[in-house]
Amino acid sequence: KGKLLPVQVNLTTCLPTFGRPGKPVYCCPPRNMLDDPIVDFEFPDPTQTPVLVRRFAHRLDEESIAKYEKAVSIMRSLPYSDPRSFTRQANLHCQYCTGSFLQQHSTLPVRVHKTWIFFPWHRMYLYFHEKILGNLIGDENFAIPFWPWDLPEGMTLPAFYLNGSFINHQRDPTHFPPAVADLDFQLAPGGSTPEEQTDLNLALMYNQMVSGAKTAELFMGCAYKTGEGGDCFGPGTMERAPHNTIHKWVGSEFHTGREDMGVFYSAARDPSFYAHHSNIDRLWEVWRSTHPEMNDPEFLDSYMYFHDENRRLVRIRFRDVMDIDMLRYRYEDVENTWLAARP
Ligand code: C2O
Repeated sequence: KGKLLPVQVNLTTCLPTFGRPGKPVYCCPPRNMLDDPIVDFEFPDPTQTPVLVRRFAHRLDEESIAKYEKAVSIMRSLPYSDPRSFTRQANLHCQYCTGSFLQQHSTLPVRVHKTWIFFPWHRMYLYFHEKILGNLIGDENFAIPFWPWDLPEGMTLPAFYLNGSFINHQRDPTHFPPAVADLDFQLAPGGSTPEEQTDLNLALMYNQMVSGAKTAELFMGCAYKTGEGGDCFGPGTMERAPHNTIHKWVGSEFHTGREDMGVFYSAARDPSFYAHHSNIDRLWEVWRSTHPEMNDPEFLDSYMYFHDENRRLVRIRFRDVMDIDMLRYRYEDVENTWLAARP
C-alpha cells in the first residue's frame, strides 16, 4: 500500500466476471489486445482539429439528432471483431467496471468506480467514443450531447432516445418523458409532484456539488493506488447521486439490477448512457473551476487503453485528460441554477 506506482492494466488476460451476483458475464475483446498496435496518446493538433461543442440534449435540432442517430446506427452495424462497434464500445464499460482486467503490478482487478479515477476514466471513454461516431459519419465537428438532469429543463429523459437506433428496450417506461427524474431515486416512486421533485433535485445538486463536496476526496472518491481493489467503497458525492441514481432510474423495473442502465456490465448498451456521462463530465469541469487541482502523481500517471477511430489501441494517462481545451471539446454554456438552491 502506498507504493508509488500508477495503476496500470494488464492486457494479457481478460477474465469472466459477475455482472451482478449470480449473473456471470464475459465481455472481453475477441482476441488478445496485445496483437493490436499500441500507440501513446497524442493531443489533437489545434491547427487541424475543430473544437467540438457538446450540446444540451433537449435542445438539439432535428438535423443534429439525425446525424447522431445515423452514427449510432452505423456503429451498431459493425461486426464484433471491430473495436468501434457498438457492442465492443458497450463492453468496455463491462470490462473496466466489473473487473475483467487485472492490474499490472497486482493480482487485483482494475475497477474504475468508487474511486478518484471515476471521472477521468469515463472522460477518456467518451472522448474516443465521440471520435469514433464522428468518424463513422465523416463529420469532424460531431459531438455527443449532454443530458443535464440537474437543470429544470433537462430533468426528463431526452425524447429522441425513444426513436431509431437510440431505442433500448431495457428501460422503465414509467420514466419516459414527461416524467421528472428523481435524482435521489431509491427504487420506489418518491410521491412528489413534478414541481416538488424539481426543487428536491436542485437541493440535492447543491449538496453534491457544493456543500458536500468541499474536498477532492469527497467529490471524486477514494484514492485508488496500485495494489488496491478499487472497491474502496468511497464513491464521491456525484458518483453516488445523481450518477448511480439516474442509472437505476432509467433501467428496467423488470430486471434485478435494473438492466440495462442500472448495472455496470450492461449500462453502456443503452445509448442514453453516453449523454448521461457527458453531463457527469461537464459537472466535473464545473467543480474543478472552483477547486484545487489533483496533483498526486499516482493519480496523474495511471494509464488506460482505448481503441481510437482508426482502430489503434491508445495508451492514455489521466494527466492527458485534465484539460479539455487540449482535448478540443467544450460544453455549451448553461446556467447551473442549482448554485442558487442553497437550503
Ligand atoms: Cu461507469 Cu455511469 O458508470
